[in-house]
Amino acid sequence: METLAILVAAGRGERLGAARPKAFLEVAGQALLLRAARAFDAAALVDGIVAVVPEDEVENARVLLGPIGKLRGVVPGGARRQDSVLEGLKAAPDAWDGTVLVHDAARPFVPPELVDAVVVAAREHGAALPVLPVVDTIKRVQGGRAVATVDRAELAAAQTPQGFRFSLLVRAYEQAFRDRVSLTDESMAVERLGRDVAIVPGSPDNRKITTQGDLAWAEAAARREPPWR
Ligand code: CTP
Ligand code: MG
Repeated sequence: METLAILVAAGRGERLGAARPKAFLEVAGQALLLRAARAFDAAALVDGIVAVVPEDEVENARVLLGPIGKLRGVVPGGARRQDSVLEGLKAAPDAWDGTVLVHDAARPFVPPELVDAVVVAAREHGAALPVLPVVDTIKRVQGGRAVATVDRAELAAAQTPQGFRFSLLVRAYEQAFRDRVSLTDESMAVERLGRDVAIVPGSPDNRKITTQGDLAWAEAAARREPPWR
């Protein structure tokens, strides 16, 4: 196995406020986690998939992901996203040092071509992530007032999947946990080691479902028939 994808789906989806954890909500009849897993199943350069889900959803997830040929395991997650990622990293085979991808199951419409582009860049550079340009003018706000305008040419919005040589990400995670840092993505842990991370163009389709408004967008996106169906 060269490339293993970890799909983190163990969040509760507080901001969405639904009865079930977010990854298990259906969009046009299909759970977000299943949609995300199908994209990785379709990506040519992905060999294995591990799903990280809430402890009480492990059995449900095994059934849900039955059609995913590359599935290697379903494991329970942790309290924070970074704890869930850690559980996923523990599910990698012993003495393996291929490319690991970490993806939010809350991004169900990731194009398989984007997944493969991250794998290629991660194999070449050791670390890679997809980004979108920032289109709005960005303000620095202090005490409820705008005090400066940030040069947006220097900014980019991070997406997932983020890809790494496995040993690099493990080292970065160990350091971040030792330093008790709250991580919002994996690249942040690698940047802290002083390593830069290659970027590939992200996709507007690869939007993260966070609010009810995003869910409404997802229903419309599902009807546009993603190309890997
Ligand atoms: N995630 C996870 N384990 C956690 C928290 C988050 O695996 N303890 C996953 C989510 O399932 C999601 C991804 O990380 O796929 C991005 O997190 P986010 O969008 O914040 O999802 P939730 O934490 O579920 O949502 P909220 O913050 O609104 O509760
Ligand atoms: Mg969250």
